[in-house]
Amino acid sequence: MRRYLRVVVLCLACGFCSLLYAFSQLAVSLEEGAGGGSGKPQAAAASWLAGGGRGAGRGAGSAGPAAHPGRSDRYSLKMQPVEEVHLAVVACGERLEETLTMLKSALIFSIKPLQFHIFAEDQLHDSFKGILNSWSFLQTFNYSLYPITFPSENAAEWKKLFKPCASQRLFLPLILKEVDSLLYVDTDILFLRPVDDIWSLLKKFNSTQIAAMAPEHEEPRIGWYNRFARHPYYGKTGVNSGVMLMNMTRMRRKYFKNDMTSVRLRWGDILMPLLKKYKLNITWGDQDLLNIIFFHNPESLFVFPCQWNYRPDHCIYGSNCQEAEEEGIFILHGNRGVYHDDKQPAFRAIYEALRNCSFEDDNIHSLLKPLELELQKTVHTYCGKIYKIFIKQLTKSIQDRYDRPPKER
Ligand SMILES: *[C@@H]1O[C@H](CO)[C@@H](O)[C@H](O)[C@H]1NC(C)=O
Ligand SMILES: *[C@@H]1O[C@H](CO)[C@@H](O)[C@H](O)[C@H]1NC(C)=O
Ligand SMILES: *[C@@H]1O[C@H](CO)[C@@H](O)[C@H](O)[C@H]1NC(C)=O
Ligand SMILES: *[C@@H]1O[C@H](CO)[C@@H](O)[C@H](O)[C@H]1NC(C)=O
Ligand SMILES: *[C@@H]1O[C@H](CO)[C@@H](O)[C@H](O)[C@H]1NC(C)=O
Repeated sequence: MRRYLRVVVLCLACGFCSLLYAFSQLAVSLEEGAGGGSGKPQAAAASWLAGGGRGAGRGAGSAGPAAHPGRSDRYSLKMQPVEEVHLAVVACGERLEETLTMLKSALIFSIKPLQFHIFAEDQLHDSFKGILNSWSFLQTFNYSLYPITFPSENAAEWKKLFKPCASQRLFLPLILKEVDSLLYVDTDILFLRPVDDIWSLLKKFNSTQIAAMAPEHEEPRIGWYNRFARHPYYGKTGVNSGVMLMNMTRMRRKYFKNDMTSVRLRWGDILMPLLKKYKLNITWGDQDLLNIIFFHNPESLFVFPCQWNYRPDHCIYGSNCQEAEEEGIFILHGNRGVYHDDKQPAFRAIYEALRNCSFEDDNIHSLLKPLELELQKTVHTYCGKIYKIFIKQLTKSIQDRYDRPPKER
């Protein structure tokens, strides 16, 4: 709160531009808004303050009309002056705390305002609202809560055929019709860098790319798809859909090659035939369907390196994510429940540290020392061996975000 007030005061006093150039991340956003000039972010910061506390009304408002999720957002999203980062997650069952920790990690490190799209089972909505509204003092995010839904034509069929929550993410381009681009993440993701960083990859897409994911494995000898899959999959080892960046405008426009008909099909038309054809052969649900789609349309996928989706698989059998060792771990993905059991204590320690901390600067700084001690206890495990990389990454992210000279804050 105080930080933002100071920012506004500063930008009135001496102009926001010099400030912007001080942060590399904001410099990126300036580049993206080329032509628009430096007035844009300034205007956004101001309207951001003005819109404080609105998250509450909005969350409540959009949770109501179950049949038309997202309708209440349509106009406000269209009129956004600054490019917002849209982050989506699907939370079911016991995933409340995990999802909130993921959202918190996004808020702690990110620079641009965030728009959360939370798809959750109805019984979780009140808890989400309670916590997210209590964070509204941050004024750096908005959220919308949606029920788990499917496009009406064959909603019943999808519900019958598949676990509803598991396939929800496939329908995001069809449900969030007014949103151009979206970062989808699983609930067991933790951001160790600003969300802005991965968002900036959208600008690197060439003209045929519509989505971005990381490989499922770096090492084919331990890969799952190349050893066991009974369906086509992307590339050498398949892709992991736990972190998926989408240009949904392009996904909605594209006609996809497929092995069901000789004509190309749109996103909304390909999913059901695909599921019908492969339902007996798929193991990992919607991730398998995505692998089949991008097997047939490889020119449409942007593959980002493993450090954007760093899983226990990358360290359990020895370190096999080279980029993470060289440049850091940007997004942690604690799949297989490792935040909640004792199999990978290094992952668990990072999860708990972020879960426990609160948003005050001092608190975020003081997270590092105990975490380092905790991680040192894990060096006997494979993933614990690289604990210094975790600490280095977190230290850097906290410095980038919080340790700016006082006059810049
Ligand atoms: C947040 O929501 C409020 C109310 O709908 C809106 O006025 C504001 O512009 C939104 N801000 C962003 C960045 O989405
Ligand atoms: C499913 O797997 C079986 C056994 O490997 C294979 O014979 C069959 O062709 C597969 N089905 C499809 C649709 O690929
Ligand atoms: C997504 O693709 C559309 C159509 O090519 C383009 O206009 C839009 O700028 C892209 N979005 C982003 C964030 O790059
Ligand atoms: C975009 O990149 C993909 C992956 O490298 C490639 O297959 C595709 O041909 C590229 N498209 C264009 C238009 O260059
Ligand atoms: C987080 O809090 C729990 C319970 O309050 C505590 O047992 C645990 O040691 C804390 N962990 C870290 C890493 O701060």
